[in-house]
Amino acid sequence: MKGVRSWRSPSLSKNPFLDAAGSRRFSSKSFTSFGCFILLFMLFLILITMKHQYEHIKMDNTWYPFASTKQRPQIMMTHFDHIHSLPRGIVESTSDMELKPLWETSTLTDKNQNHKALLAIPVGIKQKKNVNAMVQKFLAENFSIILFHYDGNVDGWHDLGWSDRAIHILAHNQTKWWFAKRFLHPDVVSIYDYIFLWDEDLGVENFHPGRYLRIMKAEGLEISQPALDPNQSEIHHRITIRNKTGKVHRRMYASRGSLNCSDASMGPPCTGWVEGMAPVFSRASWHCTWHLIQNDLIHGWGLDMKLGYCSQGDRTKNVGVIDSEFIIHLGIPSLGGSSANKQLSSESNEAAGPADQSMVTKVQGERVIDLRSQIRRQSTAELEIFRKRWDRAVRDDKEWADPYKHKKGANT
Ligand SMILES: *[C@@H]1O[C@H](CO)[C@@H](O)[C@H](O)[C@H]1NC(C)=O
Ligand SMILES: *[C@@H]1O[C@H](CO)[C@@H](O)[C@H](O)[C@H]1NC(C)=O
Ligand SMILES: *[C@@H]1O[C@H](CO)[C@@H](O)[C@H](O)[C@H]1NC(C)=O
Ligand SMILES: *[C@@H]1O[C@H](CO)[C@@H](O)[C@H](O)[C@H]1NC(C)=O
Ligand SMILES: *[C@@H]1O[C@H](CO)[C@@H](O)[C@H](O)[C@H]1NC(C)=O
Repeated sequence: MKGVRSWRSPSLSKNPFLDAAGSRRFSSKSFTSFGCFILLFMLFLILITMKHQYEHIKMDNTWYPFASTKQRPQIMMTHFDHIHSLPRGIVESTSDMELKPLWETSTLTDKNQNHKALLAIPVGIKQKKNVNAMVQKFLAENFSIILFHYDGNVDGWHDLGWSDRAIHILAHNQTKWWFAKRFLHPDVVSIYDYIFLWDEDLGVENFHPGRYLRIMKAEGLEISQPALDPNQSEIHHRITIRNKTGKVHRRMYASRGSLNCSDASMGPPCTGWVEGMAPVFSRASWHCTWHLIQNDLIHGWGLDMKLGYCSQGDRTKNVGVIDSEFIIHLGIPSLGGSSANKQLSSESNEAAGPADQSMVTKVQGERVIDLRSQIRRQSTAELEIFRKRWDRAVRDDKEWADPYKHKKGANT
């Protein structure tokens, strides 16, 4: 509130009416009535200003519905301080990823400005063929496409007919979560109803983006992923395995070792989460998820287990795996795909997070193993940091209550 008050006073003192009233002289007769008028007018002005600010605050709160109460005043103040010098009608708070023509009649390759969903993939030239197949499917459904090039090779894509319709972003050796945090800020992608943040090593022969979204909408899912065809996929978590007879599933069943997943289970790894290789987010869940991504933890391990907190309600209902539109997880180790060095059944140890990465496919022998194990070590370390950070945040935020805490069996 401090920011609000300090904002108000200079704007009032700058008001020409008040300045005039202060400096003018009046005959004592007319002063009383005129003074009254001025006083009333001032009160009126103050009221208007306060109402105006109240609207501002309301707006700021809706812009940041997921910021903790502790952070909110801070965010509000910076917004306030930096843009209050502009007339409100001119303020454009969001953006989009649409390519625009330089002039009205120019021949922009992509005339369709009616995108409703966005596909973003980290890519390397070695996966060109597969990515091409993926992008073709999504373009046919009028998706906006962003490619994050982690290997520095952008020119190698230009021969593809759709290359000019995609946005290309280049940063050497960066991961999917690094790119997403930098380039998919919720305000920048806010026109999209859905965000697909996918790895590059996914086979989409049995996947139709339009049908997928219709199911996601109809089922009320805020966060989802397509099921994996178990025959041809590298499986890390059994919840992702396709149920051939179903359309959607939201939980898995198991009772072996430490893993006991039943209808009573209320959280990951039994229900309420999806893996990191092919997540699809609604606008609201992406707004939340973006804030959950840590700037320094680029491998994103552990993130998937917390995605349920971004599901805008009950994670056992709003998070799910869609079976009727399924994909193949090729499991090619690269910066744009989940690594191949994860074990099956890693779900029994929560350590298995989303998309860990290992690069290099051409380098031979020991070097490959070395790089992968380096990245794996880093990912594991990051997971530990992420967990501690989460726990500390929970401890420190006295106003935050775990919405899933009271439920029994939250972890199995
Ligand atoms: C994609 O956009 C074009 C041009 O606006 C339109 O004709 C077509 O029906 C759209 N396709 C889908 C699947 O929405
Ligand atoms: C990216 O990483 C690979 C593998 O470690 C390395 O060979 C290459 O030099 C890196 N590229 C850049 C631009 O840092
Ligand atoms: C997997 O392979 C088995 C045996 O070849 C076959 O019966 C089954 O239908 C396949 N499943 C899928 C999902 O393709
Ligand atoms: C697969 O889906 C069907 C139909 O929804 C359901 O009856 C069956 O229990 C599911 N199987 C598994 C393994 O979840
Ligand atoms: C698994 O959990 C269910 C319900 O919580 C319980 O009834 C069952 O005995 C458990 N099974 C094992 C193997 O622990």
